[in-house]
Amino acid sequence: MSIAIIYPNRDVSAWVAALHAHDPALAIEVWPEIGAPDQVEYALCWNHPEGVLQEFPNLKCVSSLGAGVNHLLNDRSCPPEVPLVRLVDTGLKQSMAEYVMLGVLEHLRRFAGYRRQQHHAEWLPLPVPPISEVGIGLMGCGEIGRYVAGKLTAFGFPVHGWSRRPQALAGVKVFAGDDQLNAFLARSDVLVCLLPLTTETAGILDATTFSRLPANAYLINAARGAHLVEADLLSALASGHLSGALLDVFRDEPLPKSHPFWKHPRIMITPHIASVTNPRSAALQVVENYRRAVQGERLSNLVDRRQGY
Ligand code: GLV
Repeated sequence: MSIAIIYPNRDVSAWVAALHAHDPALAIEVWPEIGAPDQVEYALCWNHPEGVLQEFPNLKCVSSLGAGVNHLLNDRSCPPEVPLVRLVDTGLKQSMAEYVMLGVLEHLRRFAGYRRQQHHAEWLPLPVPPISEVGIGLMGCGEIGRYVAGKLTAFGFPVHGWSRRPQALAGVKVFAGDDQLNAFLARSDVLVCLLPLTTETAGILDATTFSRLPANAYLINAARGAHLVEADLLSALASGHLSGALLDVFRDEPLPKSHPFWKHPRIMITPHIASVTNPRSAALQVVENYRRAVQGERLSNLVDRRQGY
């Protein structure tokens, strides 16, 4: 009985240490050096090569190493009868809240402008709106979205959310479904995408969505690259309707060197680091879910394959 960590080209020693800290007897195999594939009952995956899960005939559970699971749902070789779980972790939520808060404040306080001015030794205060007048629209009100909403609200931003189904969120008006999308967008001076990637949300950040945002709106995408129609973002920036974008995720990762986003003066790029799982924070739930999987108990953070998250 073992856990296989499948995280290609990464040093996973921190994961091995964190898992062993909770259960020193745990048998852990690290792909591609798997000694006994038939012993593997639990696979912990990030960016796994498609088809690799077929090497393990006795899998009882497949877990994402992050919050998202689209990499697993897209792999047709991922055995349909084996339950999928994801990580729900305070560290992941906190890290995303830091990223979004920083992105919003950097944008509002015009830091990119001051960096350009510094380059020319220019002393020129730029106008700043009071944050009570800046509507932050959060697309996605799941575990991470709700946490981020709480932090931004506590800081003083008027925050509103959008999700597939209606839900109650203290201090935050949540718009739901296609019918309420336009009303949500109309008050989003900063649009933050934290949605799961599903067939319904792919390409949601497109020309139509952008056209419904207030003039000069700013975009933060920390969800998945496939949410964004890249050409539509470039057009919305060129027309001046959008003032800029902070992007952490891309259709092709790493973002190809020749991609126009790299040199765009109003796009800030980070390399998919908005919220990276900290093994020390997340290992306990993996050990616990492994135990549950082996003993046939109900798993936590189970993914609904039909919903896509
Ligand atoms: C990061 O992208 C994650 O899904 O955890």
